[in-house]
Amino acid sequence: MDHLKRGCHDDQADTYDEKVLEDLDDYVRENYYCILTRIVELLDLREAMAVLDIGIGTGLLVERMPKDIELYGIDISKKMMRKLEEKGLKANLAYGSFLNIPYENGMFDRIVSSFAFHHLTEEEKEEAFKEMDRVLKDTGVIVIGDFMFKDCLQKREVVERLKSESRVDILEDMAEEYPGRIDRSIEVLRKLGFTVEYERGSTLAWILKARR
Ligand SMILES: C[S@@+](CC[C@H](N)C(=O)[O-])C[C@H]1O[C@@H](n2cnc3c(N)ncnc32)[C@H](O)[C@@H]1O
Repeated sequence: MDHLKRGCHDDQADTYDEKVLEDLDDYVRENYYCILTRIVELLDLREAMAVLDIGIGTGLLVERMPKDIELYGIDISKKMMRKLEEKGLKANLAYGSFLNIPYENGMFDRIVSSFAFHHLTEEEKEEAFKEMDRVLKDTGVIVIGDFMFKDCLQKREVVERLKSESRVDILEDMAEEYPGRIDRSIEVLRKLGFTVEYERGSTLAWILKARR
């Protein structure tokens, strides 16, 4: 399925924030708010920085960002972005995808994304990193928090744990979506001239930070 249809959250827009809140005790949303807060910390934001949030959704990350930045957000779900506006949050919003960022070269100090990157295949993730590299300033930083595995071994450990707990629901979701592989992302980002740090956010989620 085309990535624009695959990841679009139009059908979840009305209930997204409530669902996150309800599911905080389970693996998929484990540490959700803490991860968002940590992502913002890692961005090391300063006044007037131009920041792009990809897959901005209903603005759960925006709520944690300082107000004195120049915030831009793109998403392939107009309904999710409408919810953000209804909450009174402020951002320059546009329809756009990881693979087609509707902005000029070298425009952003920071690029950030939370819980959206797993909608892309590994090949699409590689294209997306190139597209982020294009719109990032030379001094720029990328921070991505999402479902990921450090490497094959760590993935096996998590899969074994989920099997032992009969979590077929999560295993099926994982098979349908594309949790990232940090080792592969590092390879791609290094070729683009980035150094990468990463840390674990929860059983299923990691945060990756790339700087030139
Ligand atoms: C799980 S929500 C996360 C929203 C928000 N970042 C958060 O942390 O709460 C994923 C969002 O990414 C958007 N999305 C999925 N695939 C995308 C793509 N290829 N490009 C841009 N946005 C995408 C979805 O429409 C949805 O709004």
